[in-house]
Amino acid sequence: MNERDSEIIAQTLADNGYFPASTMAGADLVILNTCSVRAKAEQKVMSLLGALRKAKRERPEMRICVAGCVAQQEGRRIIERMPHVDLVLGTQQIYRLPELLAQAVAGGARSVTDLVDDYAIPRFLPAATGTGATAPLEESCRFRKFVTIMQGCNNYCTYCVVPYTRGREVSRRVDDIVDEISLLVAGGVKEITLLGQNVNSYGRTNPVHSRADYGFADLLRAVAAIPGLARLRFTTSNPKDLDEALIRCFAEIDTLCPQFHLPVQAGSDRILARMHRRYTVADYLEKVDKLRQHCPAIALTTDIIVGFPGEREEDFAATLSLLERVRFHGSFSFKYSDRPGTRACLLDGKIAEEVKAERLARFQARQDQISLERNRQYVDQELAVLLEEVTIDGGRGRTGTNHLVHFSTPLPHRPGDIILARITQAGQHSLQGRSAD
Ligand code: 5AD
Ligand code: SF4
Repeated sequence: MNERDSEIIAQTLADNGYFPASTMAGADLVILNTCSVRAKAEQKVMSLLGALRKAKRERPEMRICVAGCVAQQEGRRIIERMPHVDLVLGTQQIYRLPELLAQAVAGGARSVTDLVDDYAIPRFLPAATGTGATAPLEESCRFRKFVTIMQGCNNYCTYCVVPYTRGREVSRRVDDIVDEISLLVAGGVKEITLLGQNVNSYGRTNPVHSRADYGFADLLRAVAAIPGLARLRFTTSNPKDLDEALIRCFAEIDTLCPQFHLPVQAGSDRILARMHRRYTVADYLEKVDKLRQHCPAIALTTDIIVGFPGEREEDFAATLSLLERVRFHGSFSFKYSDRPGTRACLLDGKIAEEVKAERLARFQARQDQISLERNRQYVDQELAVLLEEVTIDGGRGRTGTNHLVHFSTPLPHRPGDIILARITQAGQHSLQGRSAD
């Protein structure tokens, strides 16, 4: 979501006559688009802001803006602690950056972090913007794009800061989403990832379509019908809201990639209840089994938090056995950290840092082995790969399962082509292949 916000910020600035600087030291405007989901991300922002204090002393005309979730969370406190920051921009204000920056510099408000419940995600069409044709950012891949379908979250998992920094859940209208994607596809984009904090509850909180019960599975079908769109993905989902209608899409929509990021967070029912996740391990496993029945090739990934307050050794052991049972293709795992204003901050049974670190290491070591074992099963298979980069002696791209494939022999193809690749080798985090066309 932050990556997409960075693109929007860059595009908005490009439309206002800015262009990207090659170094931070030489920039007229530095924007830190921040994440506060875990304490570590927030610490990075604070130390970077400390370094920028010096840069600004040398070049007082440099403007500094803090955007994203840390900005939303800290608001004025950032300006008080860091007077060299010109503007603190809340998560619902990013489209207004040029205007708000001009006002701040002219003596207006330096912290704008209003968060409204009925936020309407603006229509933001790439072609409708002035210099939209020129890419303002160095893009990771111009054939794969994120499209926001909803923002905010109403779930209040006890560890999570998102409902506070992103506000109440709001969905974008179907027409806006379809228009935006149609334009991207017309401009050559092959793959779209639909973005939201909890895409399964798309359409639940505000009208998105004339049909009142229009939901995420309906949206997927509408997007899949856009001619020329080769691949469709989405992220992310709370397992409690994953329903049959969505599971069936994996069997019925050809362009929906066989990949699902389904954060489980923990393998112990006691901890899941303390996290207020509102599903049990049995519920989760039932959904995993159904997904695999409908789409045997599906690659499942997850998020795990270790050391949640009150996590005993047996709870952690349950997380390890869930890993053995599901054998995720990959996972993102984190040590629990207190986030300001969340209910988990107030829970007792905080876990010592060394215990968290040791559990994290144990989990990750086992996950790495499983990822490698799973990846080895792709060796000698022929898989469709969307090429992201082609060089004179190779290139790289991604499979439908979202595995990165490196090629170290020349490819008679161009970036954006979807080719058939024979997998020759597997590592923990990527595959090697050669063109099988
Ligand atoms: N501590 C550690 N990890 C967290 N996450 C969210 N909040 C916290 C926290 N307070 C993790 C969850 C989530 C991912 C984006 O970040 O696993 O799915
Ligand atoms: Fe945070 Fe996701 Fe829970 Fe929402 S569903 S509160 S974004 S972890």
